[in-house]
Amino acid sequence: MTSSAQENGGAGMEIPCHEPLHCPRCHVPLSAGNELRCAVCSAVYPIENGIPRFVPKDNYATGFGFQWNRHRLTQLDSHSGMPISRDRLLNASRWSADELRGRTVLECGSGAGRFTEVLCETGAVVTSFDISSAVHANAASNGHFANLRLVQASIYELPFLEESFDFLFCFGVIQHTPDVERTFKTLFRYLRPGGRFCIDVYAAMVAYPHPRQLFRPITKRMPPAKLYSHVERMVPRLLPLSMKLSSIPGAGQYLARMVPVANHRHLGLKDEEIQRNWSVLDTFDWFAPRYEQPQTRRRLERWVKDLELSEASIVRHRGLYVIRGVK
Ligand SMILES: C[S@@+](CC[C@H](N)C(=O)[O-])C[C@H]1O[C@@H](n2cnc3c(N)ncnc32)[C@H](O)[C@@H]1O
Repeated sequence: MTSSAQENGGAGMEIPCHEPLHCPRCHVPLSAGNELRCAVCSAVYPIENGIPRFVPKDNYATGFGFQWNRHRLTQLDSHSGMPISRDRLLNASRWSADELRGRTVLECGSGAGRFTEVLCETGAVVTSFDISSAVHANAASNGHFANLRLVQASIYELPFLEESFDFLFCFGVIQHTPDVERTFKTLFRYLRPGGRFCIDVYAAMVAYPHPRQLFRPITKRMPPAKLYSHVERMVPRLLPLSMKLSSIPGAGQYLARMVPVANHRHLGLKDEEIQRNWSVLDTFDWFAPRYEQPQTRRRLERWVKDLELSEASIVRHRGLYVIRGVK
């Protein structure tokens, strides 16, 4: 990595440059202009609003693009005024802001950028990508960070050099891809040996499936705008009931699960409008994705073993497994 005199958003220090982007097929550096070009295979990759695109505009994650552009700010700490994303990232990963400063981080499936903001604030050299148009929402919120590079690309065809990142971060993504094992294993190709990773995934609850599974076969096929307008009407009706049920000591959280709207009581959000907004976003996020494939601990243990990582732990937390360690 070379040094540049750019200032980053958080620390006002000198930060290293990002590596040039490489052709996902030929792995040679791309030449830059109004678009990116590969001298070997002649592929041309457009640059839209400053963001290179390596996937077709329409793909299986189009609903995510809709969701994150509609809710560009909802989950950003700078918008909510609460350190919800910061605490979640730092607690789950056990990384500190000091460790991240000046190091290269690959953030995979960045959505609207709630975690991009946290990573950029540490002074890390952040590369964030998403397969969907969510990258434009992320740019609108986090584009002011000089230490951020955004790319629209898929985990399966990335324009980065292998083993080139110090940290790998991926939250809320792999269960939404068509082949979760392939996704999980592919991510590690981009982490340098000795680099640190933190990935989460929905935990499979075989004996206790969520009621949204009843509706998903229909809702995942609906046009995003139509589904969204249903969710917008459903949440104000059902959220008060869900909140009331969840306040019952002991059984409350199980009873609230019967009501098919997302409930964020545990976050202590400030007022009803903010609670409703988060609920609309996450209820849509339950029903819209083309793929939703929770994983068992046993399967994750097998994948981790196959990868021969130096260190890895799998921790269960609120319906998720967090897999973290060192390559
Ligand atoms: C539930 S969202 C999570 C976004 C963000 N990480 C967060 O926690 O707020 C899942 C994201 O994964 C992205 N995604 C799904 N498949 C992907 C792939 N193959 N490559 C890159 N991103 C992908 C979606 O577009 C979506 O923005």
